Amino acid sequence: MKKVGFVGWRGMVGSVLMGRMLEEKDFDGIEPIFFTTSNVGGEGPAIGREIPPLKDASDIGELAAMDIIISCQGGDYTKSVFKPLRDSGWDGYWIDAASSLRMEDDAIIILDPVNLDVIKGGLDKGVKNYIGGNCTVSLMLMGIGGLFREGLVDWVSAQTYQAASGAGAQNMRELINQMGAIRDSVATELADPRSNILDIDRKVAEAMRGESFPTENFGHALGGSLLPWIDTALENGQSREEWKAQAETNKILGRSASPVPIDGTCVRIGAMRCHSQALTIKLNKSVSIESVEEIIASANDWVSVVPNDKESTLAKLTPTAVTGTLGVPVGRLRKTNMGDQFLNAFTVGDQLLWGAAEPLRRMLRILMG
Ligand code: HSE
Repeated sequence: MKKVGFVGWRGMVGSVLMGRMLEEKDFDGIEPIFFTTSNVGGEGPAIGREIPPLKDASDIGELAAMDIIISCQGGDYTKSVFKPLRDSGWDGYWIDAASSLRMEDDAIIILDPVNLDVIKGGLDKGVKNYIGGNCTVSLMLMGIGGLFREGLVDWVSAQTYQAASGAGAQNMRELINQMGAIRDSVATELADPRSNILDIDRKVAEAMRGESFPTENFGHALGGSLLPWIDTALENGQSREEWKAQAETNKILGRSASPVPIDGTCVRIGAMRCHSQALTIKLNKSVSIESVEEIIASANDWVSVVPNDKESTLAKLTPTAVTGTLGVPVGRLRKTNMGDQFLNAFTVGDQLLWGAAEPLRRMLRILMG
């Protein structure tokens, strides 16, 4: 039985991964070994069967005994362990949620409902590193992958509405604390139906700008506001998150040599764990909306088309509707005033599922045949 090492299984993405693997009985047929950075010899997660005590995630020898390693431990861990592990002669499969290795030539970005052919090509060529994509990119491709598959896309403008979970577990807590602090700052006024809304608004703004507003993680107010910058700055004025859209999409599709241009503004909003995106897609020929819907909906088992009416959109195309599910709805599909080949779309997806954990467990399944 293949020995599969898990690192970072206790964190947020790791916990979602464990949950999904239990649901899908992925632990059957493998020998799981759990690693830790802090609790060597401790007890691993409850997976319904006996497992050995936790091993040291920095012990290259222990790691090298694995056939496959899945890491949700983060980029710093990958940076510290991956090279010494490979230098030790380890030839196993490395599956990683972190971005550190994503753009390396000897790594494939995994999103098998979209790029199983690229993954299989990598396996045939002996590629050993399989890295989960950026959440926004993966969710966009789960949504409109059919249009790329049909070769219909000239370019995409993607304006994102990204959830707190993409910034981390502490940020999700902080978002809720910020919402609570806003409410608390005007609790008395809210209880009085005759209080003046502009007074309430002024007090809320004061609270959000105030010293005691909880901003330790985001650095700024997100609740009641938004943050139009995610990740570090590039010299060309893009944020790194914006840069990833084109770079990763084309790498996932195996077409980095003739990339489809993709760009837009990435924005953090006060959703918990669903990323949304407003897309303008320049098609390279005229395609009816009916055909577009059919192409999008038939691309994989999780994407669905939401009819472009108000009731369906507000019931099915929101973070609230989608959170915690594997469904990736695409809606607001219509031709725009810019012309017949300029398609409008909106899509929502769970950042922790298809955006992080799900491609990892599916890659393990692919390796297990
Ligand atoms: N960079 C993403 C975000 C999450 O900040 O929302 C990781 O893919």
